[in-house]
Amino acid sequence: MAQQKAVVLPKAKGDWLVDSVPVYTPGPGEILIKIHASALNPVDWKIQAYDFFIDKFPAVLGTDIAGTVEALGEGVTGFAKGDRVLTQGVINENAHAGFQQYTLSNADVTAKIPSNISFDQASTVPLGLATAVVGLYGGGISLTPPWADGGAGKYAGKPIVVFAGASSVGQYAIQVAKLSGFSPIITTASPHNAAYLQGLGATHVLDRALSGDALRAAVKQITSAPIEFAYDAVSGADTQTAGYELLAPGGAIVIVLANAVPEAKQTKDRKIEHVFGNVNAPQNRALGRSLYAKLTGLLETGAIKPNRVEVLPNGLQGIILGLAKLKAGVSNVKLVGRPQETA
Ligand SMILES: NC(=O)c1ccc[n+]([C@@H]2O[C@H](COP(=O)([O-])OP(=O)(O)OC[C@H]3O[C@@H](n4cnc5c(N)ncnc54)[C@H](OP(=O)(O)O)[C@@H]3O)[C@@H](O)[C@H]2O)c1
Repeated sequence: MAQQKAVVLPKAKGDWLVDSVPVYTPGPGEILIKIHASALNPVDWKIQAYDFFIDKFPAVLGTDIAGTVEALGEGVTGFAKGDRVLTQGVINENAHAGFQQYTLSNADVTAKIPSNISFDQASTVPLGLATAVVGLYGGGISLTPPWADGGAGKYAGKPIVVFAGASSVGQYAIQVAKLSGFSPIITTASPHNAAYLQGLGATHVLDRALSGDALRAAVKQITSAPIEFAYDAVSGADTQTAGYELLAPGGAIVIVLANAVPEAKQTKDRKIEHVFGNVNAPQNRALGRSLYAKLTGLLETGAIKPNRVEVLPNGLQGIILGLAKLKAGVSNVKLVGRPQETA
């Protein structure tokens, strides 16, 4: 069997290493992709540090993938060898993972990369965008996506508050909220990211250091409309609570980590929606398929802009160092490895 190099987690909480693993054969509906760029996400270092989601070892992680089509499985149409594509990996499936030189993808949630977007940029899109999209247009909230019939601008005049606008997820939440017509789009960030986030569609950027009370007062100054939607892309106990307390009756907040709103503050008429941001998951697949059918166009027109990129040197080895760097914290940048540049 042909072999390739991968970043491997040999056992729960083990030390990352670069090792050889098989190159997989695409089955029906699958594509074999040669990976040129693989973006890092907090979940990757968290899995190693805290041991969750994975029960098969050695494990290959990474879910943000951009590369070229190498081979097509049975029944796959619309793609040809050499096409530049992006896709999302599947957690706990080594054959569908990003921190290696080749991966399989599910063709229905794979899209071509337009010529204005590099592999590095494209790799920043799948997980962050999926998390924004599933949060607002899937699950218990299920708004009409902006690419569906009647969805563009549908929520005009409704405010939304996005916590952590400069995070990868937050940037995509701002951008899809803009396509949906939400206004004002109020976000929280470090002040040095304000102009960048306004460029993505935020109408107001509030300092992330504001207390919950100060934030509520600032939001009231911006709009008197009821806050029906909040998206918390950082989801600490403080931001979740602040977001929840902003909501009008009937409102909903999307959270990306476990619910940490104190029970005493929760009321029946305000919803807390936890998101699982993977388009391969059965419950998200139909929404994911509809997104990936439009994704090339959304990137080509600039309706969705990728995150800012920092390329890690030294191929797969660089990804290991990058995971430590991400754990220490980044601001408004996505770390991206290039598996083909492995020595
Ligand atoms: N449930 C899911 O499916 C899912 C999917 C994806 C991610 N996540 C989780 O979502 C979180 C974000 O992931 P990510 O990749 O988007 O993170 P990221 O890009 O690494 O986030 C870094 C950014 O977070 C911002 N930030 C941190 N604390 C903040 C606060 N208290 N208020 C405002 N901004 C704050 C910083 O903004 P400034 O630079 O402006 O200070 C920084 O730019 C992680 O915990 C991740 O594990 C969950």
